[in-house]
Amino acid sequence: MKFWHCRSQSSRRSRGPRGRRGPNPRMLPFASCLPGSLLLWALLLLLLGAASPQDSEEPDSYTECTDGYEWDPDSQHCRDVNECLTIPEACKGEMKCINHYGGYLCLPRSAAVINDLHGEGPPPPVPPVQHPNPCPPGYEPDEQESCVDVDECAQALHDCRPSQQCHNLPGSYQCTCPDGYRKIGPECVDIDECRYRYCQHRCVNLPGSFRCQCEPGFQLGPNNRSCVDVNECDMGAPCEQRCFNSYGTFLCRCHQGYELHRDGFSCSDIDECSYSSYLCQYRCVNEPGRFSCHCPQGYQLLATRLCQDIDECESGAHQCSEAQTCVNFYGGYRCVDTNRCVEPYVQVSDNRCLCPASNPLCREQPSSIVHRYMTITSERSVPADVFQIQATSVYPGAYNAFQIRAGNSQGDFYIRQINNVSAMLVLARPVTGPREYVLDLEMVTMNSLMSYRASSVLRLTVFVGAYTF
Ligand SMILES: *[C@@H]1O[C@H](CO)[C@@H](O)[C@H](O)[C@H]1NC(C)=O
Ligand SMILES: *[C@@H]1O[C@H](CO)[C@@H](O)[C@H](O)[C@H]1NC(C)=O
Repeated sequence: MKFWHCRSQSSRRSRGPRGRRGPNPRMLPFASCLPGSLLLWALLLLLLGAASPQDSEEPDSYTECTDGYEWDPDSQHCRDVNECLTIPEACKGEMKCINHYGGYLCLPRSAAVINDLHGEGPPPPVPPVQHPNPCPPGYEPDEQESCVDVDECAQALHDCRPSQQCHNLPGSYQCTCPDGYRKIGPECVDIDECRYRYCQHRCVNLPGSFRCQCEPGFQLGPNNRSCVDVNECDMGAPCEQRCFNSYGTFLCRCHQGYELHRDGFSCSDIDECSYSSYLCQYRCVNEPGRFSCHCPQGYQLLATRLCQDIDECESGAHQCSEAQTCVNFYGGYRCVDTNRCVEPYVQVSDNRCLCPASNPLCREQPSSIVHRYMTITSERSVPADVFQIQATSVYPGAYNAFQIRAGNSQGDFYIRQINNVSAMLVLARPVTGPREYVLDLEMVTMNSLMSYRASSVLRLTVFVGAYTF
C-alpha cells in the first residue's frame, strides 16, 4: 500500500488588505510530494503535530496566508484552498484526492479518512472532509450506512438543457422533453399541434400545447375541440321582441304589427292606418302593434271596421217623453209629438190625422195626413228608390195618382208610379247630411168617370245622416 503526501504545487502566499492583520493564520510547511509506505494514521498524526501555530508578526502593512491557504476578505480569515478542485489531476492512478487544511492527500479509494484533520487552535470555517463514497455510481450512503439514490435533478448534478426536463431515476437521471415538445437534435422543440387538425374550427398553437377556438356563434364543446352552437337567445341576445336561434347565429323577429328596424334587433310599430284608407269605415287609430277603428257618435263598431248606427229608440238610450215618439235615424234620433195633428185635423190614431168632411175648412184639404219617418245615408248613388207608397184601400174602377205636393223645392226627389195603387219615391240627386226633408206625398184617388176625387197625404220626414253609413 503506497501513500503520497503532497505539497500543494499551486500554493502561494497571498496577502490580506493593507493595515489588517490575520488572526493567527496557520503555517504548514510541507515537504515535496514524497512516496511513502507509512500508515495513514501515522501520517495524519505527523501532519497534526507539524501544524503548530505561528504568529505572523509582520509590520501592520498586510497579512499573509501560508501555502495551501488564501485570504478570505469576507470572514477576515485565511481559508483553506481545496487543491483537489484547483489542481488538475491532483492524484494519479487509482488514488483519490482528499483535501485538508493547507494541503491534500492522495489515498487509495478504499481508505477511510478520519474527520479531524486539524489540531488545536481556532478552527477555520471549512466544511468537514468528504468521506469517500462506498456506494455505486448515482448512490450515496445515508446515516444508516446504506446506499440511497442521489437525486441528480434536485441537486443540479444533471446536464439537461434548459429546454429539457430532468427526471431522477434510481442511480441515474433522464433528460426528457415536456409534453407538447419533441426532441430535435439536443433541444426540445414545440410541437405545432395545429398541423394535425385537432380542432373543428380554429387552432392556436401555444408553447407546449394548443387551444381550439370557435367561430362567432359557437363555443367549445366538452372535449375542447369541437364547436357547438351557442343559443344566443338564452344568453341575452339583444332582440327587442322575439329571438330565434339558428346554427351559428340568431335572428330577431317582431310581434305582429311591428317591423324589424334596420339594426336587426329593435322593432318599431307599423302604422297600419297609413297603409290603406279602407281599413276602417270611419276612422283608423294606430296603436302600438295594432290599429283600431273608431266610429262617430251615434254609431257603434260592428266587428272590427264597420260602423253601425245605434238605434237609441230600441236601446232605450233616448230621452223622449211619454207623449213623444222616438224616431231613430242615422247617427241620432228624434223625439216627435205623438199627436201632430193641427186644426182642423183631428187625431184618429198614432200617426194619422183626419180632416172631418163635415168641417167646411176641410173641403179643399187632403182628407187625411199620415206621418211617417225615414232615414237615409249621405251621398247615396242616384237614382235611388227610397220609399214606396201604397194605397191602403182599393176601390174597384178607381185610379190612384201620386205626386210630391210639398217639401221638394230643389227637386231632390221624384215619384215613379208603379201601378194604380202604389208608387216609389226616388232620390234624384245625391244629398249630404245631416239634413232633414219633410215631403208631403199626395195620393189622389179618382174613379173612372172622374166624378169622384179624394186626396190623402203621407207626410214623410226624411233624415239624411251625416255619413255614408
Ligand atoms: C377543457 O378545458 C378546460 C379548461 O381549460 C379544462 O378544465 C377541461 O378539463 C378540458 N376538458 C377536456 C376534455 O380536455
Ligand atoms: C187600374 O187602372 C186600370 C185602367 O187604367 C183599370 O183597368 C184597372 O182595373 C185598375 N186596377 C185597379 C186595381 O184598380
